[in-house]
Amino acid sequence: MRLPTAQAAVVQTASADEAHSIAALADATDLPPETVTGAVFELEDSGLVAVTERTEETLSVTEEGETYVADGLPEIRLYEAALEAGADTEPVQMGQAIGASGLEGPEVNIALSNYARKGYGVIDSGEVTADPNADPGSDPEAGALEALVDGSADALEADILESLERRGLLERSERTIRTVTLTDEGVTAVAKGIETAETVGQLTPELLTSGEWLDAEFAEYNVEADAERREGGRVHILRQTAERVKDTLVGMGFQEMDGPHADADFWINDCLFMPQDHPARTHWDRFALENPTHIDELPADLVERVERAHREGVGDDGEGYHSPWSEEFARAIALRGHTTSLSARYLSGHEIGDLEPPQRYFSVEKVYRNDTLDPTHLLEFFQIEGWVMAEDLSVRDLMGTFEEFYAQFGITDIEFKPHYNPYTEPSFELFGTHPTTGELVEIGNSGIFRPEMLEPLGVDCDVMAWGLALERLLMLMYGFEDIRDIHGTLCDLQLLRETEVTY
Ligand code: PHE
Repeated sequence: MRLPTAQAAVVQTASADEAHSIAALADATDLPPETVTGAVFELEDSGLVAVTERTEETLSVTEEGETYVADGLPEIRLYEAALEAGADTEPVQMGQAIGASGLEGPEVNIALSNYARKGYGVIDSGEVTADPNADPGSDPEAGALEALVDGSADALEADILESLERRGLLERSERTIRTVTLTDEGVTAVAKGIETAETVGQLTPELLTSGEWLDAEFAEYNVEADAERREGGRVHILRQTAERVKDTLVGMGFQEMDGPHADADFWINDCLFMPQDHPARTHWDRFALENPTHIDELPADLVERVERAHREGVGDDGEGYHSPWSEEFARAIALRGHTTSLSARYLSGHEIGDLEPPQRYFSVEKVYRNDTLDPTHLLEFFQIEGWVMAEDLSVRDLMGTFEEFYAQFGITDIEFKPHYNPYTEPSFELFGTHPTTGELVEIGNSGIFRPEMLEPLGVDCDVMAWGLALERLLMLMYGFEDIRDIHGTLCDLQLLRETEVTY
C-alpha cells in the first residue's frame, strides 16, 4: 500500500496491542505532533488505525500560589503572628498582628478574608483572636498547593481545588489526549508492506509551469488537527471598547469631534466659564507645556465676549466673577484635562463653522490629569465626551440619552447624583454598580451648559453635555477592579488576550 510519508511512518510505528499517544508517535517518528495528528485522522478514515479520545485536566499552580508555597499562605502567616502575640489568650490589635506577620499590600486583605473562614480565629472591631486548636500544619489548601508544586498530588478533594482556583492560586486547563492502535486492516496492510509516497503540501508556480502537478500526489488538509496555540498581536480591549463606543454613538446620530491634546487654557477652561483662580487651574492639577508655553493667537471677538462673561456675567442680572481676567493666562498651553475643550471649539463655530440646531457631537479621546495613581485613577485616561444642541432640552433628555447609551453595553442600573460644574446647571454625576464588588462607581459627569458659557460662544439654544470615563465603562463591563490590570507593567496579559469585547 502506498501512503503519504507521515501516514506511512505512523502506521508502521503504531501497534495492535499497545495504544500509543500522539506524543509517543511524534517522538518515535520524529514528526511534529500536529503532523502526526493529521496523519492519524487520515489513517482512521481509511480504517487502518483506531483512535480513542479522552480529555485530561491539567492543574497548574499560579505564580501567586508558588509564592505562598515558599512563604506560607497569608492567613497562616497572620495566625502565626497572632499566636506569637498571645492572641490565643486575649484579643490582639490588628495592626500589631499584621505588623508582626510581615504581610504587605494586597496580602493583608487576602489574609483577613480567609482567616475566619478557615477557623484560625475571629476578627472583630480591629482586634484579632487566634484559636489555640487550629492547626496550620494540616491546612488543606496549603497541603494541596504543596502537593501540586512538588508533583505528589494525586487525589485532591474537589472543594479544595475549587477554593484554590477561586483564590487564583490554581489554574485548570483541559486537553484532548488521543491514543492510537492498529486495526486488523492496519496489521494486514503493514504485513503486506507500506510504500512511502512523496506528497506535495503546497501547489507552487514551479509545479504548475513544469506540469509536474499532473502526477503529484497532494497531501490532504486536515482541519480538525490540534494546532499549536500562538499568541499573536491583538487590539487592546480598551481600544476595542473605544471603537464600540464610537459605533454606538454614531448609531445614535452623533458625529465625531477631534482636536489638540495640548491646547490653550482658553479652550480648556475660560470658554467653560471656569474662573481663572479656580483650583483646577493651578499647577498641581495641570500638565503645563514648556515649549511652547503659549498659543500665539486666539479669536479676538470670542476672547472679548468670554472675558466679559467672566467679569460681568451674562444677561440683565448676570453677576460674573468680578475677578481679574488675563488673556495672557488664557493663552497658556496645557495638556487638556478634559475633552470639553473640543466641545468649546466646536460650539464656538471656530472649528467647523456656525452650527444650527439640532446637532450631536462626540469624541472618545485621551485626557491628562495630575492625579495620584491608584486602582481607579491614571494620569491619562479616555473620556467619552458628547453634547446635544437643540431647542428645549431637559434633564430627562440627558438621563434618557445615558440610559440608552449604557444599555447598549448591558448596563441598566445607572444612578444620578446632583453635582456642580462652573459650566453646567443643573449638573449630574453618573454612577454604575461594579459587577463583582457591588460598589457604586463614578462613571461620568454631565449637565446642561450655562448661558454664561453658551452666550459668548454664540449659541442661543440648549446644549446638554457630558464627559464619561471609558476605563470605568470597561470596569463595569468586565468586572476588573484595578485599572492597572489593563494598563502598564502590572497588567493582566491573560485578561488582555482572552477578553472579547461584545456589546
Ligand atoms: N468636563 C467634565 C469632566 O471632565 C465632564 C462634563 C462635560 C461635564 C460636559 C458636563 C458637561 O468631568
